[in-house]
Amino acid sequence: MSNFFPDRFVDLAENVEVPPAVNQMETHVFNQQADNRTWYAKYGTALESWGPLAQGKNNLFAHPVLSGIGEEYGKTAAQVALRYLLQRDVIIIPKSVHRERMASNLDILDFQLDDADMAAITALDEGKSLFIEHTDPRAVEFLLGYGSR
Ligand SMILES: NC(=O)c1ccc[n+]([C@@H]2O[C@H](COP(=O)([O-])OP(=O)(O)OC[C@H]3O[C@@H](n4cnc5c(N)ncnc54)[C@H](OP(=O)(O)O)[C@@H]3O)[C@@H](O)[C@H]2O)c1
Repeated sequence: MSNFFPDRFVDLAENVEVPPAVNQMETHVFNQQADNRTWYAKYGTALESWGPLAQGKNNLFAHPVLSGIGEEYGKTAAQVALRYLLQRDVIIIPKSVHRERMASNLDILDFQLDDADMAAITALDEGKSLFIEHTDPRAVEFLLGYGSR
């Protein structure tokens, strides 16, 4: 499933024999789904991130906090952002059309962010979407293609 916020997620999970395996939600360092994650975990549903690099918003690829931490490990801001999600048990599917970026985005298994790093990145959470508010009925109309009616 995708973009199921906890209210609709719980309703569905309580009414099916097989709980959903995966829920894909906008999840990145600026929108960490911190509270929502606990609801998916309660039903054994994995959280999969869409937009794990925030599509570059908020200057992610040159963000001073992420770049600064990356310097400690010889890693880029993007690698630090992805590693953070991995250490929070979030499945990540970064998108790139560039081979070298794909390789770089995969190269995050040889270092471990420490507690201070994790805390500094947790503090970047804005707790809201950088793209769209799915619970706004106008957004639903937009997604359904009714925006211009
Ligand atoms: N379920 C949903 O509602 C939903 C919504 C949106 C997206 N998605 C899915 O989520 C997946 C990924 O999310 P996304 O594409 O939205 O965003 P993303 O992975 O956060 O960001 C992709 C952007 O970052 C650039 N990028 C990737 N790696 C980079 C790197 N190492 N350095 C610099 N730039 C880099 C890419 O450019 P280049 O390609 O030019 O490298 C692209 O512009 C996609 O498969 C998408 O289909 C699902």
